[in-house]
Amino acid sequence: MGTINVALLGFGTVGQGVYEAIDSHQERLKELLGKEVRVRAILIKDPSKERFVDPSITLTTQFQDILETPDLDFIFEAIVGEEPSYSYLSQAIDKGIHIVTANKAMFAKYGPTLLEKAKGKNVKLGFEATTAGGIPVIGAIKELLKVNEIERIQGILNGTSNFILSQMRTGGLSFEKALKLAQEKGYAEEDPTSDIEGYDAFYKLLTLSQTAYGRQPYLSDITRKGITSLTKQWLQAADSFGLRFKHVGSLERDEENNIYGSVEPVLVHNSHPFYGVEEVENAISLKGSLVGRVTLLGPGAGKFPTASAILEDFLSLLYQDPARQQAESKTAQELEEEESISEW
Ligand code: HSE
Repeated sequence: MGTINVALLGFGTVGQGVYEAIDSHQERLKELLGKEVRVRAILIKDPSKERFVDPSITLTTQFQDILETPDLDFIFEAIVGEEPSYSYLSQAIDKGIHIVTANKAMFAKYGPTLLEKAKGKNVKLGFEATTAGGIPVIGAIKELLKVNEIERIQGILNGTSNFILSQMRTGGLSFEKALKLAQEKGYAEEDPTSDIEGYDAFYKLLTLSQTAYGRQPYLSDITRKGITSLTKQWLQAADSFGLRFKHVGSLERDEENNIYGSVEPVLVHNSHPFYGVEEVENAISLKGSLVGRVTLLGPGAGKFPTASAILEDFLSLLYQDPARQQAESKTAQELEEEESISEW
């Protein structure tokens, strides 16, 4: 059986989740791909930390070692921040290595450039995991776009903020205690400013715009406000009127093709699909020109939901390929005879 050789960039919560998910779902991957997925190398930050990985895997702090991994097919990137991720992924594309990224800030800023570059080099680039954790929203938008125009997008896009608001309202926790709990559970970013001030949701909104409208709005056309001004008393008072504060990102395109958006706390009525979205869940509501409103709900952060998004994306990229689609009609025997993913 052939192999698909992958490298992981980053071995924090998400990177470890991907590593464990490949291991726990290896049989399923083999069944779907007709190949074994092998992690060959992992880019780590701190070489002094003990890592529980297969001893055959190269652990390195040098990206050059990753690039030089023999027959590397895919990179799964789960580093935080714009750089050095962008430079790493640019170099990977130049070498013809396919990419799946979970890096929100980097992709919001450099996604259009990377997509263009990847297209020019015939490299696959997946970014499902950058937006709304385990919810396959990028895939859903692409599916809807086959016929629909996306008229409006609304979403609870940051699990940490939603978790904090839930804990303050139902558990009576202070903002600080709720944030601490979100950090302990591994939902929050290393610097939680991005979560609580709405930057994280803002990045995700830019990626949704890129996917739904083929471009991003002018940054000045998006207002951004976090959840830090909300108090427990406000949340509980709203509740007594059948209303809840949710941190919502919205995006709309007008008839002149201008895109407008906002990220801010809004009051939703108990008839709204976001009303019951609690804890670390995210929700996205897409208004299609034909289908009307479609709402997706699911885990917005966490080790395995994000690993799920990365692996689903990986599989979708392979299935998308026309040659792969042709290969799907082949027998398992024929699939086994194929040697490298680069042939697809
Ligand atoms: N910190 C992010 C969140 C992680 O809370 O939603 C997932 O993007």
